[in-house]
Amino acid sequence: MSSSTITADPAAPAPKPEGLEGVVAASTALSHVYGEEGRLVYRGFDIHELAGKASFEEVAFLLWCDHLPNPIELDEFRTKMGANRELPGPVIDTLKALPPDTAPMDALRTAVSVLGASEHGLFDDEPDLDEAIALAARFPAMLAAFFRLRQGLNPVPPRSDLNTAQNYLYQLFGAEPDADHWQPLETYLVLLADHGMNASTFTARVIASTQSDLCSAITGAIGALKGPLHGGAPSKVLDMLNEIGSADNVDAWLTNALDTGQRLMGFGHRVYKAEDPRAEILRGLAERASDPVFFALSKKTEDRALALLEERKPGRRLYTNVEFYSAAVLAAVGLPGDMFTPTFAVGRAVGWSAHVLEQVANNRLIRPQSEFVGPTDKTFVALGER
Ligand code: ACO
Repeated sequence: MSSSTITADPAAPAPKPEGLEGVVAASTALSHVYGEEGRLVYRGFDIHELAGKASFEEVAFLLWCDHLPNPIELDEFRTKMGANRELPGPVIDTLKALPPDTAPMDALRTAVSVLGASEHGLFDDEPDLDEAIALAARFPAMLAAFFRLRQGLNPVPPRSDLNTAQNYLYQLFGAEPDADHWQPLETYLVLLADHGMNASTFTARVIASTQSDLCSAITGAIGALKGPLHGGAPSKVLDMLNEIGSADNVDAWLTNALDTGQRLMGFGHRVYKAEDPRAEILRGLAERASDPVFFALSKKTEDRALALLEERKPGRRLYTNVEFYSAAVLAAVGLPGDMFTPTFAVGRAVGWSAHVLEQVANNRLIRPQSEFVGPTDKTFVALGER
């Protein structure tokens, strides 16, 4: 029989449903990942239309309200975001009580949960736009407060005259933010604001579908984002680049990592089977914003990793993902590695909450099934006879 006439064996077991790959779990008009083309669209706008052109506030408004704001709307919206950055006492007290070596993602997850508990008057209703703004605007303030408290410094009060990226850096470092820092950070936040039905967004929508509250949905989403197969990779990219250390060690390090079965952080994606468009934009930002020696090391590592992955995993179509150059960009704006994933969450808080609003507007409980593979006919044996 020639290979062209081979057909699937009808007796072969169906593919396992693990990972929900290819399963459509919700309808959304917010964003979509075109994996084959390497394209990302927010509310009809290709990401290249927005990155570096639209402010983070314009993109947040677009995702939440389904149109770009006019100047009056934007002004009102910025004022509202700026007025929502103060943290209630119980959140600050909780952040103070955490051990200084707490991972900032754990601190953020805890702070959002405490916010929901302490401001239950605000967050207990069905999630709405005011709640989404109130929560997303507090994300940078919560992280900056923990960042300072763990160093024995006092939190810096927020400033309502600054935009989100500027105010985040101001609250972290206590100094007027430099345009060379806040502008790349703002583009980063725009790029990370939403991304289709990823694991953390799905988590938020599942929780919202039970008619739970916004803070519960977002607390769950933070937990899902934390893992290295999702948003937890960029600090590991930085660790990898630091371990590689110099251009002449790139090949040896990557070869050893692949020989020992490790995954290369910042490569591969469940949906993209072409380059992640965010990686392309972040590469350009990193080239402009980061130290030239560090950028050269990153670029050589990327080039060699892509070649080795093609050689070792032919046909898997593993490309650079958003996390690889996130590391260089976030390091260039002055953030330590353990603040990378929490900063991803600052951007994604907008997308998560927009998905929660979309879910509640047309809700049906999300409740899939599992394929049961266990036994069904066991007989109970009393304790004394076991
Ligand atoms: N390095 C080495 N091999 C890889 C990598 C990688 N980064 N990614 C996938 N592979 C290999 C797998 O080992 C597998 O090989 P096999 O077919 O020989 O078993 C094949 O490629 C397919 O991998 P899957 O695990 O089936 O792909 P999946 O869609 O489940 O995983 C994921 C996607 C988790 C992103 C994966 O590519 C990965 O682990 N990457 C590294 C971590 C990372 O960069 N995470 C950030 C993702 S971006 C984001 O969520 C914001």
